[in-house]
Amino acid sequence: GALAACASGSGSAPTLVSPSGPAVTAAEKKRAGRGTVRNMNLTAAPAVLDLGGGLTAESWAFSGQTPGGEIRVSAGDTLAAELSNQLPDRTTTSLHWHGIALRNDMDGAPPVTQPAVQAGSTFTYRFITGTPGTYFVHPHIGVQLDRGLYAPLIVEDPDEPLSYDDEWVVVLDDWIDGVTGTPDEVYAELRQGMGAGMHRDGLMPMGATSDLLGGDAGDVKYPYHLVNGRIPAAPVVHRGRPGDRVRLRIINAGGDTAYRVALGGHRMTVTHTDGYPVEHREVDALLIGMGERYDVLVTLGDGVFPLVSLAEGKGAAGMALVRTGAGSAPSPSVRPKELDGKIVTAAQLRATDDVRLTSKKPDRVHRVELTGGMHHYNWAINGVRLDMSDPAAHPLIVEAGERVQLDFVNRSTMWHPMHLHGHTYELGADGPRKDTAIVLPKKTLSVVFDADNPGQWMLHCHNAYHAEAGMMAVLGYR
Ligand code: C2O
Ligand code: CU
Repeated sequence: GALAACASGSGSAPTLVSPSGPAVTAAEKKRAGRGTVRNMNLTAAPAVLDLGGGLTAESWAFSGQTPGGEIRVSAGDTLAAELSNQLPDRTTTSLHWHGIALRNDMDGAPPVTQPAVQAGSTFTYRFITGTPGTYFVHPHIGVQLDRGLYAPLIVEDPDEPLSYDDEWVVVLDDWIDGVTGTPDEVYAELRQGMGAGMHRDGLMPMGATSDLLGGDAGDVKYPYHLVNGRIPAAPVVHRGRPGDRVRLRIINAGGDTAYRVALGGHRMTVTHTDGYPVEHREVDALLIGMGERYDVLVTLGDGVFPLVSLAEGKGAAGMALVRTGAGSAPSPSVRPKELDGKIVTAAQLRATDDVRLTSKKPDRVHRVELTGGMHHYNWAINGVRLDMSDPAAHPLIVEAGERVQLDFVNRSTMWHPMHLHGHTYELGADGPRKDTAIVLPKKTLSVVFDADNPGQWMLHCHNAYHAEAGMMAVLGYR
């Protein structure tokens, strides 16, 4: 079929489907009525976080801890989550259900899908969870994610095809030094520098200022890398029995870091990425971009083993431990040899038959150019830094029922993990179904998806700073 023209750019703003969209998506319909209502409360509030080893950080968190408490539901359940905004200084917030193809008005992306939730008030998100998998939830305002406001979200499969003895949810994060006191002038300066895409609230994580004052605004430094909220000197320990088959659900919640992840002394079998099954593949290590998730199976050995998340291009790492027997803990600076073994990225995985998109020519192709310099806070999509006061001014247009191809063309020298809300795309031909994928420097990555969930959806880089600087676009249904 003929390709429709790319509608972004000049001309008068097209009329888009309103963000409220249909009440029930196709995915929800399929599951409707199967489940129960799961009520929960998430309170976003200041907290003193215990990072282990006597290190604390004053920041923001859900219910006093980071990661926030695990949310676990079954596909088909109705999730009813009351967000209570107790953040200081009239900071607005929201909850975005990262990776879930839900109804548009529950997507938590202000100001596009709802007004931001004001300080001191509440908002209840209510939707049916469609596809089983590993997800997470975080605010979609500023870089609040990078302050520690995130929680894992597991949607179990009522007909789980995998068999395993145990599960371990592993959340990776990069953590800026928890220095207290964050001068408003510095925030103001950064806001000015970052320009159009800025939200008013939640700009920088606490403690970023000392580094930023001294150097380029682009050089955000992360002295700590956390695994499940802990530094390597005081790691979280997963206890198991030798021979246990464990499903690891690994989530990269970092703001600015892609991780290379390995479990010392073990090979991992990749089973899912971003919630969707892939043909099983044995690996030594995985490369996980910001916002990506991987599920792997491991059969535990006998002893004490480090799970290490090496910050790509930065040298430092996070660590957690698996203990199934006797032995002393490895040093916090251990680097298992698996980190340099067979490393797999999403591009080398294949979707299983049941989730593979049929071969069908795209009805529409959008070129999505990624630009911006290392130190300039000028990251943009197709030359435009999203203006939050008029986010749908330059939408990428699609129509319901279309097969859409996105060609991510990275013109910059930085990594950009590109995340699409409300849909999952297929990477290349027969590649995995994903909602977030790394576009390497100077490379092009093509993905296809079916436009089956009307509304207005964010498409953006999941590096929190790039997104906040304006590397976001709206994908809108006409
Ligand atoms: Cu995890 Cu638009 O975000
Ligand atoms: Cu980016």
